[in-house]
Amino acid sequence: MNFYRSHILVCGGTGCTSSGSAKLVDRFNAQLKEKGLAKEVRVVKTGCFGLCEAGPVVIVYPEGTFYSHVKEEDVDEFVAEHLLKGRIVRHLVYHDKGEQPEAGKSLNDIDFYRHQTRLALRNCGVIDPENIDEYIAFDGYMALG
Ligand code: FES
Repeated sequence: MNFYRSHILVCGGTGCTSSGSAKLVDRFNAQLKEKGLAKEVRVVKTGCFGLCEAGPVVIVYPEGTFYSHVKEEDVDEFVAEHLLKGRIVRHLVYHDKGEQPEAGKSLNDIDFYRHQTRLALRNCGVIDPENIDEYIAFDGYMALG
């Protein structure tokens, strides 16, 4: 098992796919390989985060920074700035009207999510939906147990 220092969650929902998220996954993987980061940073395609109008949506963990309208041509800058230098890509960070983009602005700090109580989709945007170990780590099957 490999431990990664960062996970890049790329929305693979219908809305984001139609605005180019599949190309993002390919470009991220190519850039990570080129920069020697493939064993440190993992790209995960997820289900819909719910904020489709802001797509393609990308969330970077562990800090949970929420990026919106990320395009294939942004990926090189994204890898150079966020992953290599540890600086957010300010112009891509999602922010509510009247607020400045800020580092560490996570999904739960955004107005759209702040007023929601997500039940069935509470892990969407948090874990790899195709990895059962991540689901169990987030109390999956707890009620069955
Ligand atoms: S399809 Fe990406 S947020 Fe809904």
